[in-house]
Amino acid sequence: MQICRTIADTRAAVAALRGTGKSIGFVPTMGFLHDGHLSLVARAQAECGATVVSIFVNPTQFGEAADLSAYPRNESGDLALLEQAGVDVVFLPDVDTMYPAGDETVVETTRLANILHGQVRPGHFRGVASVVTRLFNIVQPDVAVFGEKDYQQLQVIRQMVRDLHMPVRIIGGPTVREADGLAMSSRNVRLSAEDRAAAIVLNRALNAAQDHAHRPGATVDDLRTIITDTIAAEPRATLRGLDSVTAEGLHPITGPLSTPVAIMISVQFGDILLIDQKVIQP
Ligand code: PAJ
Repeated sequence: MQICRTIADTRAAVAALRGTGKSIGFVPTMGFLHDGHLSLVARAQAECGATVVSIFVNPTQFGEAADLSAYPRNESGDLALLEQAGVDVVFLPDVDTMYPAGDETVVETTRLANILHGQVRPGHFRGVASVVTRLFNIVQPDVAVFGEKDYQQLQVIRQMVRDLHMPVRIIGGPTVREADGLAMSSRNVRLSAEDRAAAIVLNRALNAAQDHAHRPGATVDDLRTIITDTIAAEPRATLRGLDSVTAEGLHPITGPLSTPVAIMISVQFGDILLIDQKVIQP
């Protein structure tokens, strides 16, 4: 496994792999890797002859400096996991490499970035699109894999790639969960033991909504009520966001359940905000 910290080294490593006729699969991450990330790596390996993973805690997608500095890091542990997984190249840039002095260009999906989670985190998806564009230009992958857990992020990336004619195929990977159903997240380690136990309420609420969706006459409003009530029954949890939108364009949807509806929730435990989502089939 080659560890690259500069753009030149990364381009050379990718060129060498391409020279042997291999296609390039790419998984961008912010590190502190878990089985969710590794499932995306496995998917990239299944699609392509060689796999590149980036680890970069991207400052432009964080609202508060405190959140950025609290983001967990474990470079040596991450490298060991990626080596074991058989990754070919890891790109570990520093901030000055990604955003050279005088940098002023942003990439924004103007509608998708500013609805739903983007309303509570202004600038977040602009930061994501801006860094992923830079990463794509450095790695130039054939395929890039993103998790469905960050559902709006996946839609932002798909929109950006379509609009800017980027020559990369985007694949969404299903959410990997802990045994009790909590979606794996680098943020989970920051939960207190009590909040960690209570956090299964996100998955429980989404499953309750999915169960209800099979009933004749079920409406989107029913699903919202079930989710609100389930979260409200957990005293440690505060529901911060509940969105019911079309699975593709993330347009608001109401009334009887006739098409797939993406339910996106964000729930606060102390100062930690957890997100989860499910696409509910009628
Ligand atoms: P990060 O949070 O490290 O996530 C990297 C990738 O792993 C994302 O595509 C995310 O959706 C996926 N992922 C996270 N938890 C998952 C889980 N439990 N199951 C499956 N996939 C999961 O998302 C980012 O980093 C950044 O915004 C990034 C795209 C790297 C841009 O900075």
